[in-house]
Amino acid sequence: MTAKTLESLLDEGVQGRSVLVRSDLNVPLADGAVTDDGRIRASLPVLERLAAAGAKVLVAAHLGRPKGEPVPEFSLAPVADRMGELSSVTVRRAEDLTGPSAREAADALGSGEVLLLENVRFDPRETSKDEGERQTLAGELAALTGPEGAFVNDAFGAVHRAHASVVDIAAELPAYQGDLVASELKVLERLTTSPERPYTVILGGSKVSDKLAVIENLLPKADTLLIGGGMVFTFLKAQGFGIGKSLVENDKLDTVSRFMDLAAEHDCRLVLPTDIVMASAFAPDAEREVLSVDALETGSHGADALGLDIGPKSAELFAQSIAASKTVFWNGPMGVFEMEAFSHGTRTVADALSKAEAFSVVGGGDSAAAVRTLGFDESGFGHISTGGGASLEYLEGKTLPGIQALGL
Ligand code: 3PG
Repeated sequence: MTAKTLESLLDEGVQGRSVLVRSDLNVPLADGAVTDDGRIRASLPVLERLAAAGAKVLVAAHLGRPKGEPVPEFSLAPVADRMGELSSVTVRRAEDLTGPSAREAADALGSGEVLLLENVRFDPRETSKDEGERQTLAGELAALTGPEGAFVNDAFGAVHRAHASVVDIAAELPAYQGDLVASELKVLERLTTSPERPYTVILGGSKVSDKLAVIENLLPKADTLLIGGGMVFTFLKAQGFGIGKSLVENDKLDTVSRFMDLAAEHDCRLVLPTDIVMASAFAPDAEREVLSVDALETGSHGADALGLDIGPKSAELFAQSIAASKTVFWNGPMGVFEMEAFSHGTRTVADALSKAEAFSVVGGGDSAAAVRTLGFDESGFGHISTGGGASLEYLEGKTLPGIQALGL
């Protein structure tokens, strides 16, 4: 079975038909306002194409991880507001997912309008392990679209989740692949099947356990693997260095040691930072000292210090490696970039990537947010993915349930 494209749905004609789109609108919020609207902007084109073709567009999306019950702070209301600000299309909002508010709003929706349903994760059936429960919810979602309904999955960031609105719904309605999903897959395929060399991968973020599978899968494919972020300290400790009070996953020391051997076997250069910004505390105004990795506990706070960024020499080294590459994939910040004092490493990597002639891909989540928060022009990057976990799972070689459900 080949997944049907959005193009083919538009060719069939959607005038007056209700089309349910699964979008990834999982954006960061602060004080009830959206702080990074990247995913909203990436989702609007498909909604607007459908609306322009006369569809009544229903949107299902999640926000955060509420545990199957309504939590006001995870309401999609601020997202609906932001969608309305960014688009000329009328964006309405339902106060529930498949309840009276959604049914009434879906019935009243006009052609060319968009209706954002409330957070799918307010319903425990969305993420239920019980297939029957998920199917019931999918049936209720499908019922909102009426007899001529269709489903478009455009939520690339959620395709790794076997949830009702991602997977089960595709069995209830004629299902199509959204443009965002199609373009993300094309980029990831290029990274895995024919990367131009040298191919450099930069991985950061706090937990090495989140990245084990991707490291294992990319070591044989990449020419250079640069490691930064909090996960560095597990590697450094595995090499016998003192790391003070830095983040560490002691149960992963053997695994990361094995990665060093694996890298050598596959002729992949695994590069760790040579210096670290050590801090007196996890605080924006903490005292800082740049120390070499073999002397991290020798600063004025001794073994009480903790590492919050890669040091300037390492950042420069990473930037040079990026500049010499033809393909670069980056996922995960190099330090606590949200605090200005510890943002230098992430900023340097982002800057090098934005200037590189390489085909550069920023894996979503924190690194995509970092690029925007630090004020970089997105057009300087080959591709900024909307999927954090989803792009990593693709690169791990895993089957993505939301893609499989589309028949891809
Ligand atoms: C993401 O933020 O990567 C996606 O929106 C998926 O969210 P989740 O990890 O909570 O499923």
